[in-house]
Amino acid sequence: MTDALRLGVAGLGTVGCSLIQLLARQKDVLESRCGRTLSVMGVSARSRNLKRDISIDGLAWHDDPVTLATAPDVDVFVELIGGDAGAADISVRAALKAGKHVVTANKALLAKHGGELATLAEKHGVTLNFEAAVAGGIPIIKAMRESLAGNQVSRVSGILNGTCNYILTRMERDNLSFAACLEEAQQLGYAEADPTFDVEGFDTAHKLALLTSLAFGTQINSEDIYVEGISSITPQDIQAAAELGYRIKLLGVAQRRTTGIEQRVHPTMVPLEGHLAQISDVTNAVSVDADAVGNITLSGPGAGGDATASAVLGDIADIARGLRTLPLGVSVTELKPYVRARMGAHEGGYYIRLTVSDRLGAFASIAGRMAEAGISLASIVQKNRDGQPGVSNGPETKSVLLITHQTTESAIREALVHIRSDGHIVGDPQLIRLEIA
Ligand code: HSE
Repeated sequence: MTDALRLGVAGLGTVGCSLIQLLARQKDVLESRCGRTLSVMGVSARSRNLKRDISIDGLAWHDDPVTLATAPDVDVFVELIGGDAGAADISVRAALKAGKHVVTANKALLAKHGGELATLAEKHGVTLNFEAAVAGGIPIIKAMRESLAGNQVSRVSGILNGTCNYILTRMERDNLSFAACLEEAQQLGYAEADPTFDVEGFDTAHKLALLTSLAFGTQINSEDIYVEGISSITPQDIQAAAELGYRIKLLGVAQRRTTGIEQRVHPTMVPLEGHLAQISDVTNAVSVDADAVGNITLSGPGAGGDATASAVLGDIADIARGLRTLPLGVSVTELKPYVRARMGAHEGGYYIRLTVSDRLGAFASIAGRMAEAGISLASIVQKNRDGQPGVSNGPETKSVLLITHQTTESAIREALVHIRSDGHIVGDPQLIRLEIA
């Protein structure tokens, strides 16, 4: 048996603690699979004395993750601190420059600095693995970076945020409020330190940016992504979706178009009978369309300590076995610039919920504006504001739910500008895209 692989673990939150426990629990099987022992030499976290489920007695404590990252007795620096700046960024760079392999779950850091960090890893001849950064326990990075090497990918899409999927599932299934479901997701350790990253779609965007780069061989670009979160989704939208034969999911989609690559994150109505509608709770799913293999979809837990630690440990095991892959699948110098396809050119069906003043001509005016923009309506339903159908006119406004046939984003935007200026609607329109694939 060769020498032990020596690990330094920075960040002892949900994932860090699960990793230390998993390393102990799977010690024997890891040794036989890797042909060597995996030993944690030292740890670092914000507070040494926090109450944790693990004992850190006997491990070297580092107040500063940089001293851990560069410690002579550490071969692999495991970064589980999080955040795209500060300690995570500084310590990962220090580790790579010191010739240490790095394993990280930090999608925000990679989405922002992935190109530079991959360059450093290449320059210093070390590995930068990040399986846990996308879709928790699902081995999608390995699948895209290694297993699909013989394919041209045309589309990658999926449910990439466990917290949002958990919230949407619980809101629908148990008729709970958004706030109550978010609190539960935080207690279960699914959510980011700042949960607006989850619910406003940024966490999904970070993950999508990494998948896009692997799928299309382009430079990582997390700025040029159309992003909408789920915080505006109401129980009425969830109920309307069900009545129309859909379920609402937060999707990230990257797709090759003639003008470039479309990257978008938004709540989406997916058909109730389709695969994505069945993905519930914290489960994630990633679907890849590629020329040789066709379509593959991987699903599994997208967040949570053990599931994420499983992905981190898989990356560590690869290093222990001596397997080394370029971080972004090709050398950073070979990545092509990312060219964004305009969101206005996006084509699809739309659900639009309007709060309409209940007066003569309002309906006709809205339908007329849709027709002027060349939008064909598949259905139009009027509801009382409580979501119940009816003709009674208690309140002065009604909810009007429109489903369009295939159209473009720019046509929808144009129609909504006119509908607003006609003065028949109150507040902001709710717009949810439909996705058939
Ligand atoms: N907050 C993330 C999620 C954790 O809910 O999916 C995994 O990246």
